[in-house]
Amino acid sequence: MESDDPVLFEVRQSHLNTGLRGLPVGTCLTSAVHAENGVSYGGYPVADLAGLSCEAVIHLLFRKRLPTPDEERAFAAELVSRETVPPLVHDLLAHLPRQAHPMEWFLAGLLYLGMSGKSGEWEEDALNLVARTNGLVAAVFRLREGWGAPKKPRPGLTYAERFTDALGAPGAHALLPEVLRLFHVLHVDHGGGNLSTFTGKAVASSHADVYVSMAAAMASLYGPLHGRANQECLEFVREVGSSDPKAVEAFVRALVAKGGKVFGFGHAVLRAEDPRAKVQYAFAEKHFASHPLVRTALALRAVVPPILKEQPKIQNPYPNVDAVSGSLLSAAGLLDPEYYTVLFGWSRVVGIAAQIVDERVRMRDGKGVPIYRPRYLAEAQPGRRLAPPAPP
Ligand code: MLT
Repeated sequence: MESDDPVLFEVRQSHLNTGLRGLPVGTCLTSAVHAENGVSYGGYPVADLAGLSCEAVIHLLFRKRLPTPDEERAFAAELVSRETVPPLVHDLLAHLPRQAHPMEWFLAGLLYLGMSGKSGEWEEDALNLVARTNGLVAAVFRLREGWGAPKKPRPGLTYAERFTDALGAPGAHALLPEVLRLFHVLHVDHGGGNLSTFTGKAVASSHADVYVSMAAAMASLYGPLHGRANQECLEFVREVGSSDPKAVEAFVRALVAKGGKVFGFGHAVLRAEDPRAKVQYAFAEKHFASHPLVRTALALRAVVPPILKEQPKIQNPYPNVDAVSGSLLSAAGLLDPEYYTVLFGWSRVVGIAAQIVDERVRMRDGKGVPIYRPRYLAEAQPGRRLAPPAPP
């Protein structure tokens, strides 16, 4: 008799201790990652959505469909009505040490935001958190860099423009709001299994609130093997320091020969050029073609894949989302790569928050996913006993 509970995946001994790589553990209602085609949000390939507003994409992830123009306007106004960061959060941030990484400031800020008011209702808190992340991240930049007190954005601006306005970055290029809109839309979600999303959902499964769960998620994003790769990628592009194909090739070959890492290439799931990289390369070529870092990033795009293809162990020699994002941000006036992971977080909180809400209140007919409790097998050990105590 056929079971109505089909086997989806066979767990083998070789899967143990591999960081759950590739093991299905749940379903994701916001986005999907395909090895060749990259990420899609709500079924739409990311490249098709690249021209939309942040508001439309946030609506898609939370409400599971794109908004009509009227709905988009109403949703944008709703986000503005939720966005105020309590002054207490700014006061607390102002006391953090300058030498701490901006991601550590962001983590602290998320906890401060939660401490300064939450409703306990998942979707309500998640949308507040998303709306307030604009002001929180802008305050992290301003207070840590000494650009002045946190700024309130002018009325009548979009989500990305409000963020740019609140940032008030000295020396910003006129295209910064557009670069940030594109960055936000491209980084907003990436399936359910990336480490930060998984962490956020796991912590929320204990019914810890959305702010604490997001701080845990952002702690995962902070690691150099996850979100902090975008900071290291720009540092790498700077180190290459040339856009001459011969010089770039010599640099990369020497690096590979000594076992060094070529930042911005390869991905845990993707096996083709990341469409998020393609969209950013096209934007960079159109608007910043003569910028030296963009030129180096474009040279790397041409030079690196054939070299990595010569390495038998490398499964994906192609550019990922980080390959050119830092060069673009830099060309638009955000020069310090230490902040790039916070910008990744600024965007990714949306997908994580939407997925937390799904797991808490939508999955299993509204019952929600139970507390995460995977099983670890004990390593086989012969029955060990302590020796009986020696008689007195
Ligand atoms: C990404 O955006 O590429 C990810 O968060 C990394 C991943 O999918 O593991």
